[in-house]
Amino acid sequence: MQISKDIHWVGSIDWELRNFHGYSTPQGSSYNAYLILDEKPTLIDTVKAAGFEEMISGIRKVIDPAKIQYIISNHTEMDHSGSIEEMLKLCPNAEVVCSPKGEEGLRKHFRKDWKFKVVKTGDKLRIGKRELEFFLTTMVHWPDSMATYSGKDATLFSNDAFGQHVAAKERFVDDADSEFIFKEAAKYYANIVLPYGVQVLKALEALGTLNLGTIAPSHGFIWRKDADIQRIISLYGKWARHETEAKAVIVYDTMWHSTETMAATLGEFLEGEGVPVKMMDLQTNHISDVITEVMFSKAVFLGSPILNNRMLPTMGAFLTYMKGLKPKNRVGLTFGSYGWSKGGFKELEEGLKDSGIELIGEGRYIQFIPSGEDLAGLRSIAQTAKKRLSK
Ligand code: FEO
Repeated sequence: MQISKDIHWVGSIDWELRNFHGYSTPQGSSYNAYLILDEKPTLIDTVKAAGFEEMISGIRKVIDPAKIQYIISNHTEMDHSGSIEEMLKLCPNAEVVCSPKGEEGLRKHFRKDWKFKVVKTGDKLRIGKRELEFFLTTMVHWPDSMATYSGKDATLFSNDAFGQHVAAKERFVDDADSEFIFKEAAKYYANIVLPYGVQVLKALEALGTLNLGTIAPSHGFIWRKDADIQRIISLYGKWARHETEAKAVIVYDTMWHSTETMAATLGEFLEGEGVPVKMMDLQTNHISDVITEVMFSKAVFLGSPILNNRMLPTMGAFLTYMKGLKPKNRVGLTFGSYGWSKGGFKELEEGLKDSGIELIGEGRYIQFIPSGEDLAGLRSIAQTAKKRLSK
């Protein structure tokens, strides 16, 4: 599909994908590769190995693949580099353009001595009428990540940055339900990019000097409406600075409804204090959706009962995930019900602290079924949270 004069989308759509290394993808995904027709035809990124046939069939509709002179690998992860080896069989003289870490990564993935052209920020590559410019976007989200810019087309090929895991027939944000796409872009950021706020701000500063008419990411829809481009860049800045809303998310699981009752009561008290609340039960919500709510929320409450002297495994899995994604500038507290041992609450508290969330008080733990008095005692948590959220 032609996305502008001389630039064609030649990616593949993964309609069936439901899990991307632990990230739930109910809408599937796409792997976007772009072909620039110029004196030296250039392919920007490839697709997952399984999508190679779809990609090559798209390329063949436009050009003989043997004519491709450069394959730009913005990122080594196999959803984008997975078809380079097959591609090079059809254009064996093509050079593989990548960052220094990209070369290291590609060599260790494929164990092949391809013709590498290693670039760094500010390097330029003339492909004919166009000069492509490269920007290392280190740790957004791998050490090798980079973006490629074509000034002639005012187009940034941003790779994972600004992407969304959605499979669709439409290619442009403004041809689809843009509010849904912004939501998916938020989920993508929360699950893939959240730990790298400092690096995102650095990348935004470098890219801020460019004339951006189009941002073409490697997943999902392409941004081309100025208002959408400004909005997604501004949201990336907000998320990178860990700016949150004055609201709370209560993440919990339960065995015999006691922790659930505590969660519901805490939720009511918070709403009574004017704090909007999102209830996220770990039995019905995927951790990748829960972390998206955490990204939006200033306050994070975790509730688990005790099973075999530990927190419930669902909470353990969520904490492992959240610790890796390192949310900052948030406050929280733990709660739960126990039978005869409170041992697991220590690891629940430690887990919240290790995620980078400041505890705003002692955890609230109730034996067996909470009494009316026990539940009423949760009101003070809501009051403390309200004060912290009002600061
Ligand atoms: Fe879409 Fe980091 O790969």
